[in-house]
Amino acid sequence: MKNPSDTGRDWRFATAPHRLPLVGHALSLARRPLEFLAGLPALGDLVELRLGSKPTYLPCHPELVQQVLVNARVYDTGGPVKEKARPILGNGLITSDWADHRRQRRMVQPAFHTARIATYAEVMEKECAAHAETWRAGRPVDVGDAMQALTARVTARALFSTEMAPHSVAEIQRSLPVMVRGAFRRAVDPTGVLAKLPLAANREFDAALARLHTLIDGIVGDYRRSGEDRGDLLSALLAARDEEDGGAMTDQEVHDQVMTLLLAGVETTASALTWAWHLLAAHPEAEARLHAEVDEVLSGRIPTYADIPKLAHTQRIFTETLRLYPPAWMFTRTTTEPTELGGHRLPVGADVLISPYVIHRIPELFPRPEVFDPDRWLPERAQDVARGSYLPFGGGSRKCIGDVFGMTEATLALATLASRWRLRPVPGATVSPRAEMSLTAGPLPMVPRPR
Ligand code: HEM
Repeated sequence: MKNPSDTGRDWRFATAPHRLPLVGHALSLARRPLEFLAGLPALGDLVELRLGSKPTYLPCHPELVQQVLVNARVYDTGGPVKEKARPILGNGLITSDWADHRRQRRMVQPAFHTARIATYAEVMEKECAAHAETWRAGRPVDVGDAMQALTARVTARALFSTEMAPHSVAEIQRSLPVMVRGAFRRAVDPTGVLAKLPLAANREFDAALARLHTLIDGIVGDYRRSGEDRGDLLSALLAARDEEDGGAMTDQEVHDQVMTLLLAGVETTASALTWAWHLLAAHPEAEARLHAEVDEVLSGRIPTYADIPKLAHTQRIFTETLRLYPPAWMFTRTTTEPTELGGHRLPVGADVLISPYVIHRIPELFPRPEVFDPDRWLPERAQDVARGSYLPFGGGSRKCIGDVFGMTEATLALATLASRWRLRPVPGATVSPRAEMSLTAGPLPMVPRPR
């Protein structure tokens, strides 16, 4: 590994070993994605693999990753996963290509301005406090399901404010996980056949997707007719005007952004929160400091947006959780023209894999990378983290638009729940990362104990 401050000459190029006829490295990637990818940085700064016959590249150095992320025109959204997402998400921020994305991003960005986040935080405060009331001492909860339910409610209510009928929030909670699971199954099926088989899972997926589309259409229609600004995300999307041509988004465009925000915002934050509870239970010292911090800052009251700067250790816990278990463990780009990366020619149409999971576990970037150490993010130590090596939210013009939303939500959730409860693992339960649509912990039964 070169020094990350180098200018980019003499990059080490390597080809991934054990390529099989026809499938290339597709089986290794499908079967053991995390182990397979994490072994590649030792080989080179840029590693070529084959998925089928397609040349695919994994930049393993933060500087090369940044070159890809900042050059969004040449390294456009693409790859098999995004192609398969289009029929589900339509043409929103995640799926749109470079030229369209710039316009869309300009339009959606105001919905995530600081003043708006402060309003959404009121929803987060209430939902986290209500969630804390649902746990019972000694009665196990599946933490993954619990966090998914919490973030689905928060995102739905930040999008659609309080007037949304309770059954609509419940519908999102019910249908979204089915949609995410189905979207992932489609993304990883190279044949495309699976989605067409008359399986119960496919029927369930189609029905969930149809319900979500109908629900969102209905809500967008209601909002459009009322014309009122309700201070929520959807109102901001409807009010957005393109600064260049003054145009608004069509109902279909707003619909696609809403689907995109639900898909991108709910499971990501829930997965990371789930990992945080798991890590806290395994690291009593970090947990004790979390309890000390919430007790001191809150003195028993519910945390609010204004408390967040004071919840520094809480934030560091989440930051470190995102390093070890970044929900977006891998995302892709496709070259729109021949180009050069790390001194190597890339043809047009090459897929480039960006893996925060891989980069976050390189020992030269993060000493003892396997160790959960929230203090890495103390200001005096965080300044040693090489630029571009921490990328749970991606980077460049497609950097997560919900990063502050997600951090705010997670900090409030950890502080609210930890001020009342500690979670203990159910004896015998084991956890192993699952690299699915997000990097999830799978079923994680834990027992709430009152503090
Ligand atoms: C801890 C939580 C989250 C993580 C780790 C995360 C991670 C990411 C990453 C890595 C990307 C870039 C993907 C790429 O470059 O292809 C992204 C994009 C995006 N995220 Fe997040 N995200 C989180 C929370 C959220 C939330 C809460 C929302 C919305 C409420 C959201 C909405 C989006 C959207 C719309 C995009 C596409 C942005 C664009 O292309 O302009 N995310 N996210």
